Amino acid sequence: MTIAKHVRGVDDLGKDGILEILELSDHFLEVSNRRIPKVPALRGKTVASLFFEDSTRTRLSFEKAAKRLSADVMSFSVSSSSVKKGESLRDTVETISSMGVEAIVVRHKSVGVPWMLPQWTDASIINAGDGSHEHPTQALADCYTITQQLGNIAGKRIVIVGDIKHSRVARSNIKAFNMLGASVALVAPPTLLPPSIENWPVDTISDLDAAIKEADVLYLLRMQLERQEESLVPSLREYSNFYGLTLERSHMLQKSSIIMHPGPMNRGVEISGDVPDLQNALITNQVENGVIVRMAVLYHLLGSGVALAGFNQEADEDG
Ligand code: NCD
Repeated sequence: MTIAKHVRGVDDLGKDGILEILELSDHFLEVSNRRIPKVPALRGKTVASLFFEDSTRTRLSFEKAAKRLSADVMSFSVSSSSVKKGESLRDTVETISSMGVEAIVVRHKSVGVPWMLPQWTDASIINAGDGSHEHPTQALADCYTITQQLGNIAGKRIVIVGDIKHSRVARSNIKAFNMLGASVALVAPPTLLPPSIENWPVDTISDLDAAIKEADVLYLLRMQLERQEESLVPSLREYSNFYGLTLERSHMLQKSSIIMHPGPMNRGVEISGDVPDLQNALITNQVENGVIVRMAVLYHLLGSGVALAGFNQEADEDG
């Protein structure tokens, strides 16, 4: 097994790395179901979270994952930091790094920031979202959720619907789903597909109803209005008529098929209010699994030499 130094994009892990994280996740799922869901694996290590963009679930789940592994957590929020006083990215990273951190979890609106950080720090870098580029740990949470629910990703038809153009989740997921042998189809208005689409390992389908019928996984994306410089759809109402998942449309899914969404949801736009409550909607499972796979990622990057098998329940509860 090769151990990655960073998880900046899905390619840092590759197929074997993803499979390794999914396997480790089974172990951390078991840990998370314990009465005291904590192991000493990363005791003495420090994980810093450096969020230059808003986040709810990603930030909280990284922090929770680090704490469940007994790491120390340093949390940096731009709105209350010296970035407000004009401090550069480099100075911020060097400052945090000189306090002693083993991993930095970074979210930034600019594409490529996670790839810049290793010039200024020896810490492992984990990308929690860079612009519309990549969000690898969301892809891992989604791969784990699909595997849990459908047994396997290989051979599955995964249909991704919505604002693909601005979605880092779509980019990371398409790579990961493809590496694991799924076939991926995209459904979106042409203005919300990226110009580079010809080189992607995907099909495009224009009719959502046709795509729904063949989907094993129907994956909805948020309309990311904050990243759109111009109006790319005539109106949100028209968008939801053509591309929104209504209850009625959800009945066209095969019985075993599942509905996913990375959150935050815009109810009434890409998904109608009642759909997230359906039995086959796995949106809260994705969030739960977000903590599990992030434990696996942190352990993979920082836990070498600490044997997992040593963490039996009694010892952990004493520790
Ligand atoms: C996404 C993000 O920020 O990239 N959310 C998430 O991390 N679960 C998707 C989005 O913002 O729509």
